[in-house]
Amino acid sequence: MFSNWKEAAHLIRPAIVFLIGLGLFAVARKAVIPPTFGQYGHYRAAALDDIRRKPIHFAGQDACAVCHTDQLKVRNAGLHRTIACEACHGPASIHADDPGKSKPAITAIAALCTRCHEANPAKPAWFKQVSTASHNAGTSCEICHQPHSPKL
Ligand code: HEC
Ligand code: HEC
Ligand code: HEC
Ligand code: HEC
Repeated sequence: MFSNWKEAAHLIRPAIVFLIGLGLFAVARKAVIPPTFGQYGHYRAAALDDIRRKPIHFAGQDACAVCHTDQLKVRNAGLHRTIACEACHGPASIHADDPGKSKPAITAIAALCTRCHEANPAKPAWFKQVSTASHNAGTSCEICHQPHSPKL
């Protein structure tokens, strides 16, 4: 019996070390995992509140439509119908809440249009693009294209 115990000792000692390690791991895990982790799923539930606290910058175009029905109608008539107002006018939630407080800046047109339309072989061929170096260079785009409905 005694000799059996002596022979098993070399298994029991590492088993004890392993169990201590497991215990330390469990304690460390409890200490570092945020309290709300796993409340709803495999993420920190309190992260939802953190995100909700961030200020809102974009109002969404439904908000713009309340006041700017004319621009909305014009935009919906052309190929820019898929471009949201704030894609061109920038985040405007302060303006939409109180138009007197701030006005969305109107971006320099050449920079705005070329951001999407400058010819580039990496763009899909169906996307309408022009090389501004040769497409009426030096003339502002809005002399010929109305930004809200750019077809001539
Ligand atoms: C509550 C009504 C209201 C809402 C909502 C609203 N606007 Fe306006 N917006 C105005 C008024 C009023 C003016 C000022 C018109 C003027 O000065 O001639 C204006 C002016 C503008 C201008 C012109 C700025 C300039 O320098 O002339 C732009 C661009 C504009 N709004 C974009 C937007 C966008 C984009 C949204 C949606 C995110 C939006 N607006 C939501 C009322 C509104
Ligand atoms: C493709 C870019 C683009 C989109 C999309 C766009 N706008 Fe504009 N918008 C412009 C530019 C550029 C001007 C300035 C026009 C100028 O100075 O001749 C302008 C001017 C305006 C003005 C000033 C008055 C006027 O008609 O010139 C208002 C108000 C306005 N936009 C609202 C809107 C709203 C609301 C939407 C969404 C329904 C929208 N815009 C979508 C580019 C855009
Ligand atoms: C956010 C990207 C974006 C911006 C900014 C933008 N466009 Fe467009 N534009 C588009 C898309 C998307 C289409 C539709 C492309 C298609 O279906 O082939 C389009 C279509 C057009 C067309 C073809 C219209 C037609 O009916 O054939 C012209 C012209 C045009 N845009 C000019 C302009 C001008 C001028 C400006 C600047 C005031 C501008 N775009 C700003 C995305 C943009
Ligand atoms: C002097 C007038 C004029 C000016 C300024 C002008 N364009 Fe055009 N644009 C045209 C004409 C005309 C067409 C249609 C003929 C064609 O398809 O080539 C056109 C077509 C386009 C198209 C559609 C191309 C296609 O494949 O169907 C885009 C995109 C465009 N222009 C963007 C712009 C941008 C961006 C600017 C400013 C940097 C600009 N244009 C300035 C006259 C103009």
